[in-house]
Order: sequence, then structure tokens, then C-alpha cells
Amino acid sequence: GERAVAVLPAGVVTDSPRFGYRGVLLDVGRHYFPVAYLKQFIDMLALHNMNTFHWHLTEDQGWRIEIKKYPRLTEVGSHRKETITDWETKKMDGQPYDGYYTQDEVREIIAYAAERYITVIPEIDLPGHMLAALASYPELGCTGGPYEVATSWGVFPDVLCAGNKNSLQFVKDVLTEIMELFPSTYIHIGGDECPKVRWEKCPKCQAMIRREGIKAEPGHTAENQLQTWFMTQVEKFINDNGRRMIGWDEVLEGGLTPDATIMSWRGMQGGIKAVKQQHEVIMTPISHLYFSNPRILKLQGLETVMRVYHFEPVPEALSVDEQKYVIGAQVGVWTEWIKDSSRLEYVVLPRLAAAAEICWTNSGRKEPEHFLERLPHMLDLYQMAGYEYRRDIYNPYIEIKKLSADSAEVNCRTFDHMPVYYTIDGMEPDGKALQYQKPFRIGKGTIIKVVAEREGIRGEVQTVEY
Ligand code: ACM
Ligand code: ZN
Repeated sequence: GERAVAVLPAGVVTDSPRFGYRGVLLDVGRHYFPVAYLKQFIDMLALHNMNTFHWHLTEDQGWRIEIKKYPRLTEVGSHRKETITDWETKKMDGQPYDGYYTQDEVREIIAYAAERYITVIPEIDLPGHMLAALASYPELGCTGGPYEVATSWGVFPDVLCAGNKNSLQFVKDVLTEIMELFPSTYIHIGGDECPKVRWEKCPKCQAMIRREGIKAEPGHTAENQLQTWFMTQVEKFINDNGRRMIGWDEVLEGGLTPDATIMSWRGMQGGIKAVKQQHEVIMTPISHLYFSNPRILKLQGLETVMRVYHFEPVPEALSVDEQKYVIGAQVGVWTEWIKDSSRLEYVVLPRLAAAAEICWTNSGRKEPEHFLERLPHMLDLYQMAGYEYRRDIYNPYIEIKKLSADSAEVNCRTFDHMPVYYTIDGMEPDGKALQYQKPFRIGKGTIIKVVAEREGIRGEVQTVEY
């Protein structure tokens, strides 16, 4: 193409992020993404100055990392028979599904990320979400199986048997290989969504409860504390190897292990509770930062982005001293319903730009309009990179403020202040439509149709009935 010379003024940028931990989780258990694509995903994180890739590597639906000592984890555990395609009808696709990363590929990803100043934190999710491991090594479950790699989503009753001595050895062996591969300080061991129904009936688990003198206490069942006991052993092993453990907020249910960093996902409460016990926390509430959350995915256009932008990771309930325990925030991308890169990019972009802002900018310095002024440049970069970002960001955003029982005021805008045209008579907003200038009043029963115009082209018409 044509060459041009650009002249840029010399300058020095002095900047530093609000948080040292700026993460994005990708679940490759439900759906596998190939190495070449993971590199593109890492580029996407680097573009947004996120510095941590939380690689959720194991799930009920697939074990996705080669472990030399336990070859069946990938021989058996990386395959599933088929996949559910519809939650209501439970329809299955009948297609076998598999995929895993060799240790060489894992090293390649870690090195690629490191060149972009991104740390990769591995997660081996235990003792729940382990069906793929149990299908590979049934003796590690309470009932001995047989087990099958899950083909549907949810929380399954079969989990790692905490009373079986081989379970702890298995976890230590797996983590040994994980720590050889991953140089990260933090190692994530999951701890979420672990039902205790098998443990309650399992002679080995119950024997371990007696042997360790574990007793039910107000707020903690014996089985909850068995999980804490198990996690404490795992944590000690991780600490003895010079690393630190991260767990999901459920690990608080049996009392905290000594050094765990907590990832607060069910809300902010787990995070607050952990901070009050002087533990570090990372905020990743489902309500704002789970980009795969179907309810939040229903939001449209500007609202999807601003919901993230206005999220404050440090709860007001914390004192100034306590606030420093919030080491960062994280976006979660769970892939039950995300089976390819277009859908992945659709859920992530442009909201990742807003997540980057909450991780980078001190709350007192956030300016929504300034952020929105910069957003078109990000969208240009997405276009250059060929990312499948959500195009509804270009649609007008309509706000209706109720004035009385039967009248309201309508505000319209686009994120980038483009001209907006509207009708209130049910007609399509074509050449004859009025250009929106300022808020206007409508009566009950009005149908408002609104469209934005960019470079002479009108976009998608939005219809709202008051
Ligand atoms: C989680 O979303 N189960 C951590
Ligand atoms: Zn058991």
C-alpha cells in the first residue's frame, strides 16, 4: 500500500496502574482454544495492559494439560463423548470433542505471554470439577466409579475423595509438574462448587474426619472443614515449593487456610471476609466481571461497557488499611456457551477496555466521558486486528426518565456523539426523521425509534415503547 510518514511529538508518559494484578480468566475446559489462538488472545490482553492470564485448565468436561506421571488424564480425560447444545431441551450434538496442551505447548504459551509482560497463572480446579480426572483414575473418587467426562454443564456430586491418601499424592504429583512448568508466584487450586454429598457417605472421608479430629462447628460442617484440611495440605506443599496458593471464595467455608489469596466471584462478600482476616483478595464478581454471564450479556451497547466501567473493586466497607489487601480485579470468561473465537471476542470486546480502566485508573480519576472519547481509537485497533467485537456499541443509547404517571423525558446519545435521528409516530427514522438535539417529552404509549448516523450511513434502528 501507500507509504506515509508520520511525525509524532516527543513526550514522556509517567503512569502506573492502580492494581498490580489485572487478570483475565479463560476456561479451556468446556471449550478448547488452540495454541495459535491463545497467542492472539494474549495479544488482546497485552493491548489492554492486563498483566495476568488465568488459565483454567481442568474441568468436569475436559482435562487439558499433559501430566507425564498421569498419562490417562489426557488419554481419557481430554475427550468427551458429545456436548449439550440447548439448556432447555438438553439436546446433545452427538459429536466427540477433545483437545489438550502438551507441556511443550504450555512452555510456548508462558514464554509468549512473558514477552508481553503477562504472567500465566495455572488453575487445577480441585476437589470439585474433577470428573475428567476421575474418569481417568476412578480410584480417586469416593465410590470408585465408573465415571464419565461430563457432556453437560453444572456442578456434579462426584468429586475427589479427600479421605483417600492417593488423592493428596495425586494432587502433589500434578502440582509438581505444574510448578516445574509455570514460573508464576501464584498457583490456583480452585476450591469452588464442591458438593459434599459423597464425602458424607464415604467411609474413607469419614475416617479422615475422625483421624484428624475434625468436628462440626457453628457455620462449618465437618465436611467443609475436611475441604479446608485438604486445601491446607495442598497449600503447605505449594508454600514449601516457594509459591503461593489462590482459591475461589468457597474455600472460606471451612475456615481459611493460612496464606490463601481469595478470588471473590459469588459477590464481594467473600473478598471482604478474607480481607478482614488479612488475606489478599482479587475481585471478580459474577455480577460485573463475568463476561460470559448470560444475564449481563442481555445488556446492550453502551450499557454493557458502562456497567463494567462503573464497577469499583474496593468495597466501601474496608478501611484504608484494609484496602491494600485488594490486589486487583479479574474478568472471567467461562466457555460453556462459547465454542469459538468469534463468540469469545464478542463477549470480551469492547468491555475489556472498561475492565482495563478499573484496573488501571484510581477511582477518583475516572472520567466516563474521557474514557468514551478514547474508545473509538480502541475500536479502530480492534478493526485492524480483525477482532469480532460487539458492534452494538455503535447503536444509540436511549434513556427514558419518568416525569409523571403518563409522561417521560427521552435522552439519546451514542458513545461517540454521532448524530441521532428519531421518530415518535411509529414510522421508520428515514430522511424525514428529526435530528435529536436535546431531551424531549413523550406521553404514555409512544413508540420511539432511534438511529445513529456515522459517515453518512445510518445504523441499526432501536425501538423503545414507553
Ligand atoms: C466459578 O465461577 N465457579 C469460580
Ligand atoms: Zn471419600
